Amino acid sequence: MSTPEGSRIGIVTAGGDAPGLNAAIRAIGRSALDAGDVVVGVLNGWMGLLEPDGNRPLAAADLSGILPLGGTILGSSRTLPLNDEESLHRLVEGVDRLALDALITIGGDGTLALARRLSELGVPIVGIPKTIDFDVSGTDVCIGFDSALSVVVEALDRLHTTAASHHNVMVLETMGRDTGWLAALGGLAGGADVVCLPEFPVSMDDVAERLLARRAAGKLSSIVIVAEGSPVGGIDEPPIPLDASGHPQMARRAIGERVAAAIAEMTGFETRATVLGHLQRGGSPVATDRMWATRLGAAALELAHEGTATAVAVRSGAVVAATIQELTDASQQVPRSLYELCCQVG
Ligand code: F6P
Repeated sequence: MSTPEGSRIGIVTAGGDAPGLNAAIRAIGRSALDAGDVVVGVLNGWMGLLEPDGNRPLAAADLSGILPLGGTILGSSRTLPLNDEESLHRLVEGVDRLALDALITIGGDGTLALARRLSELGVPIVGIPKTIDFDVSGTDVCIGFDSALSVVVEALDRLHTTAASHHNVMVLETMGRDTGWLAALGGLAGGADVVCLPEFPVSMDDVAERLLARRAAGKLSSIVIVAEGSPVGGIDEPPIPLDASGHPQMARRAIGERVAAAIAEMTGFETRATVLGHLQRGGSPVATDRMWATRLGAAALELAHEGTATAVAVRSGAVVAATIQELTDASQQVPRSLYELCCQVG
């Protein structure tokens, strides 16, 4: 379906926030206002379509000064009624009630999966990939990942100096429920000695052996990076509570603390744990996130007008039209070759 300029375009930001969301909202909003569209900000993720109080057209003033701002001016939530037919129909009704000609959804795997369902139900959708986890398939860029990665690398740089001074082991826990991109690329860029990822199970014996070998080789300090969803054999774990979207709240595993305690016990080395948590999601976006968010946002609006594609992506350095199926068919995982490089240089 083609949506002419002078249309009503909705914007939804859903799931975990990420630096760069506001840059995308600004680009969509400014391009839309230029085209004579009305751009409606849907508040608090999918919740805003289920309970439509407060959604309103964005004015030029709403879009001023937000480029460097972290978070999302629209708010977000973990509400994700993916498998609930009644709520899906209420979402479609919410789109109709706002008289939207198209909906631009900026989100990660869950948000885009829901956008796909709505698209199948006839809602004109354009999805934009956003997640600090970098696990959306079919795109080389997910808004927010570069900013989060820079936080991980800075943390590792800081941990190196204190670890070297005290001759101890530092364990850094990063986000990454199902995929370990932040830990893998952070570990490479920040010089982690041991890298634990959700994609490649390790045992505590492996980790301890590696640290003992480093000490035997004269390395007095070591850095271990652990993605929060990493399976680590030999660690006892309590059941993990679920969040509102049905995903396990991985931070509750406290895997960083558990691995640190096991290292101390198995090696006798002084060991400390740091959990980066939401510091990875908050704060100002780095330049690449601002730049891609702006380019993806402007392209999404163009595609919403044309009605020719259901998603945007970055491939081979260019913004391209894509399908929401391509972005949601599988999760983008850390390849074995990259993991092996992490192990080789660590
Ligand atoms: O957005 C995904 C993510 O970054 C995961 O890596 C992490 O498990 C989750 O967010 C934590 O989010 P919250 O604390 O908001 O539930």
